[in-house]
Amino acid sequence: MTVVGTRGATLTEGRADFPTGFVWGAATASYQIEGAAQEDGRGPSIWDTFSRTPGKVAGGDTGDVACDHYFRHADDVSLMSELGLAAYRFSVAWPRVQPHGSGAVNARGLDFYSRLVDRLLEAGITPYVTLYHWDLPQALEDAGGWPERDTAYRFAEYAAAVYARLGDRVHNWTTLNEPWVAAFLGYGNGVHAPGRTDPAAAFRAAHHMLLAHGLAARALREAGAREISLVLNLSPVITPAQVADPGAAPSEADAEAVGRIDTLLTRQFIDPAVRGEYPAEFLDIVGRNGGVEHIRDGDLAIINQPIDLLGINYYNPCVVESGPGRAADAAWPGSEDIRFCPVDGVPATAMGWPVVPNGLSRLLVRLSDDYPEVGLIITENGAAFDDAVEDGRVHDARRTDYLDGHLRAVHAAIADGADVRGYLLWSLLDNFEWAEGYRRRFGIVHVDFATQRRLLKDSALWYREVIARNGL
Ligand code: FCB
Repeated sequence: MTVVGTRGATLTEGRADFPTGFVWGAATASYQIEGAAQEDGRGPSIWDTFSRTPGKVAGGDTGDVACDHYFRHADDVSLMSELGLAAYRFSVAWPRVQPHGSGAVNARGLDFYSRLVDRLLEAGITPYVTLYHWDLPQALEDAGGWPERDTAYRFAEYAAAVYARLGDRVHNWTTLNEPWVAAFLGYGNGVHAPGRTDPAAAFRAAHHMLLAHGLAARALREAGAREISLVLNLSPVITPAQVADPGAAPSEADAEAVGRIDTLLTRQFIDPAVRGEYPAEFLDIVGRNGGVEHIRDGDLAIINQPIDLLGINYYNPCVVESGPGRAADAAWPGSEDIRFCPVDGVPATAMGWPVVPNGLSRLLVRLSDDYPEVGLIITENGAAFDDAVEDGRVHDARRTDYLDGHLRAVHAAIADGADVRGYLLWSLLDNFEWAEGYRRRFGIVHVDFATQRRLLKDSALWYREVIARNGL
């Protein structure tokens, strides 16, 4: 029997066919793969500084060499072709383009991305360019970083410079990757660069990132960009009981905890970007954490630029309950009296992240219901496991299971009416996993960091079949 859902997703006896034109791809980010930290005039970024600070990154790892992609990009594009990818999401390193974060453009830095784009287009792969995936030029951090308003204006100038060079060939533009993580891990709990721990600075950083998004989106649109998106790390916020039973009714106190964390994670970003407003409850929280003076008249109108797609990075749900008397978590200023709960009874990845595929369906359906004005694309989803190479193979069955489960969840959401246009897997290559260094492997392609040898894992071979069949 074939069940036809909305938007062309069909399910026939366990086979899930995706809608025609569904975009299959993979994602990476500049600092995580490029290496070549000193090459062709690149300036230092906050991640160069942070990774060199003892104790900040596991194993003392840095992105100095990473996957050496800067020099091996042609081979990496060949790998993408071999897998049949239709799209490749990568980010541009701001310090390659403006080594000190402002002023004259470094043409050699942009040349690299221009060559990469040409290679991709020759291979029939659509480039999806992210302008900011966390490698802020160190000079801008020295001038105050994202908590300073000026950084937003510098970002818009940088975005225009990248567009001027690549806009003739690149049509899919993302302003920022995961402003929540960049603001609240970068300036809140200090686990990411620049490693500051100041709740007021974190809220200011988040607002200025949104302002940067709006200014850049406006500049890109005026310059002729076709498709503009913002990428957020999103999770359904649920209670422990809802992990197994999505319909379980929360107590009043738990519902309040869920609502507050959803405001901080989701609505803090989507409401201003898509609707031009901050939730009142959010402004109360900011008011209690340093004040709202940095949010100026007119900012919300700038932030609220039309976007074509919302990019979703999903790894796991966010599970909370009421926790009277608890102090706020440093990454979540405003989360007093809330407990973040471990998830029992489901497998976990090497990051310790619980595997809950139905969380993705739940998230996608909710977003399409609450924000019908914007189409959705999965810009990251994937899993780290401790892979081993055995006789020239990597049998990463757990990763394949993870991906299969989450793709089925995407399919179910589409059949329920969610407007999901594509899936960009995280990640093409094993790479520098931020504070975890190289010990966490997210790639479907194994990288031997001593020799830079690439090896398709079993999950890559499986993904190639999925793409070829446009389904599971
Ligand atoms: C996301 C990041 C990405 C990667 C994955 C595992 O938060 O955007 O760079 O590290 O997590």
